[in-house]
Amino acid sequence: MEKVNIERIIERIKDLPTLPDVVMKVNQLANDPKTSATDIAKIITTDQSLSMKILKLVNSAFFGFPGEIKSISHAITILGFKTIQNIALTISVFDMFGKSKSLGNFDRKEFWKHSIGCAVCGRLVATKLHYEDADLAFTGGLLHDIGKIILDQYLHNEFVKVLEELTKKPAFIYDVEKEVLGFNHSNLGEQLASNWKLPKPLIDVIGHHHKPMAHPQDDKLTYIVHMADVICRAKKIGANGDSRQPKLGKEIVEELGFSLLDLELILRQVNSEMNKAIDFLKLTSAASREQSTSS
Ligand SMILES: [Fe+2]
Ligand SMILES: [Fe+2]
Repeated sequence: MEKVNIERIIERIKDLPTLPDVVMKVNQLANDPKTSATDIAKIITTDQSLSMKILKLVNSAFFGFPGEIKSISHAITILGFKTIQNIALTISVFDMFGKSKSLGNFDRKEFWKHSIGCAVCGRLVATKLHYEDADLAFTGGLLHDIGKIILDQYLHNEFVKVLEELTKKPAFIYDVEKEVLGFNHSNLGEQLASNWKLPKPLIDVIGHHHKPMAHPQDDKLTYIVHMADVICRAKKIGANGDSRQPKLGKEIVEELGFSLLDLELILRQVNSEMNKAIDFLKLTSAASREQSTSS
């Protein structure tokens, strides 16, 4: 299915969430070299709930700072505004989609576990490779499969059919989505990410994470998240909707300049890093509790 048709589907899905204004503004400002830390802090602090959640995460074991970070401007000084921008985006996505309960066959809890696993693993791989923005790799890992949530929530019957087909044969979910719908979760996620005006490397990750070698013009980030995805599938961190294990292509490992030893190190680190990221997981379950008590 051509892109234009996916755009039409997105138009059809009227209540598809948009990013909060604060996050859109932060994304816009972060691209402007004249922006100061104070400008970003001013925008974020207009949203009290977002500010509180950011402070909770920057003070979590995942970042591991010894002293307490008490204000957004302090957080920006210590972590830099790119990191805070990524955290703000992460929180908004959890606010939008983390709170929705599983509608049927698709296990949201396992989905978020897989996404957070890929985020953690993507950050590890990026750090190992000295990639310029390891936090962007975290966000890329977190969002790479976001199209599945859209399918489950807004094209639910069609998505149930996809999941049913997958119980009958060993196949990759993206191939079955293409058979049933004419497009897959990466096409839909890519369109959503471009509507949200996310940074280009993130749009590429979401659009091309299954076959990065087919898009050599993409940023290295797509390769990094692809590798993280394959590792998490192999380590059975969360679930993905299908049971077919993708292989890590030799050409990807070579393209990234990864050694077998690097890979072994990441495999050893991923579980302990996942434990440190528990506060990110809590963000989804806390939101689910809020949802169930209010409904
Ligand atoms: Fe995917
Ligand atoms: Fe995935």
